[in-house]
Amino acid sequence: MKTLQRTLTIIKPDAVRKNAIGDIIEQLEKNDFRILALKMLEISKHQAEQFYAVHAGRPFFRTLTDFMSSGPIVALALEKENAIADLRKLMGATNPASAEEGTIRKKWATNIEHNAIHGSDAEDTARFELSFFFAGYELAE
Ligand code: CMP
Repeated sequence: MKTLQRTLTIIKPDAVRKNAIGDIIEQLEKNDFRILALKMLEISKHQAEQFYAVHAGRPFFRTLTDFMSSGPIVALALEKENAIADLRKLMGATNPASAEEGTIRKKWATNIEHNAIHGSDAEDTARFELSFFFAGYELAE
């Protein structure tokens, strides 16, 4: 049985600075992701720490949260069959040095930290991450 799934993606500050927003959204739409909501915003260091709380204590936590609060980001709520896995495939490996040709990170990421795009990694994290950026009434029917 085919079931629609929702996921959250973030176009990160490095990709926004490179004027990659349009290209990344085009790739999402070409790959059949339906955009339920999107917003451009800046998050504080504290908000970045809350969003990435699962990584607290990791050696890269401080620089990751500094980076994610360093400038505008674009958050999108997406829907598609198998959205979580399909988005992660389209994004490519976390470290762009290992990302496959044709992926968003291969095209736009600079390194493992400045890696252009984030995507939820599981259904429970998708629920948390969607509700972090969007209230229920903000999502398209
Ligand atoms: P993202 O998909 O946003 O999820 C967590 C982020 O932490 C990840 O992308 C990377 O940007 C970052 N990250 C993961 N592993 C490392 C690492 N070893 N060194 C630096 N940053 C990392």
